[in-house]
Amino acid sequence: MADKVPTPSIWSRRDFFGRLGWAGFGLVSLTTVLAGMRSAFPRVLFTPDLSFKAGRIEDYAIGEISEKYKKDFRVWIIREANGVYALFAKCTHLGCTPRWLKAENKFKCPCHGSGFYKSGLNFEGPAPRPLERVRVALAEDGQLIIDMGVKYRQERGDWEKPGAFLRA
Ligand code: FES
Repeated sequence: MADKVPTPSIWSRRDFFGRLGWAGFGLVSLTTVLAGMRSAFPRVLFTPDLSFKAGRIEDYAIGEISEKYKKDFRVWIIREANGVYALFAKCTHLGCTPRWLKAENKFKCPCHGSGFYKSGLNFEGPAPRPLERVRVALAEDGQLIIDMGVKYRQERGDWEKPGAFLRA
């Protein structure tokens, strides 16, 4: 009968710490590699360009409310005898889209009845302040540029700023 050689059932303490060390090294290496790969794709927020060209001033009749860009950009363009401005078509009460009522010469919000003059000033209903204007400028090619990213609030005195009204 041959003697049985006992096989170790557990690792020696030295093996255990050796393997633990290598596992730690592997984990740190993997983390470093993943962090390097992640840095190749920076977290950049790409915001769409909020401005668009809206044709020439002569394309707009004096005194008319143009709804040409209301559907796509939520803006009305209004030409007066001395210039142009653009109103953001968002009610200042809870954000519904008002309608232009030509016969009544006013913007009317269908949600809770706020009314706004052609200038954007509020005069009836719960809207607490006028509609906002958005920036209007002239491009080098003579076209209007409407920049939805710049808003002007009447109650803050913003309508006196150049972009709130383009003199022409
Ligand atoms: Fe326009 Fe309420 S959202 S009146």
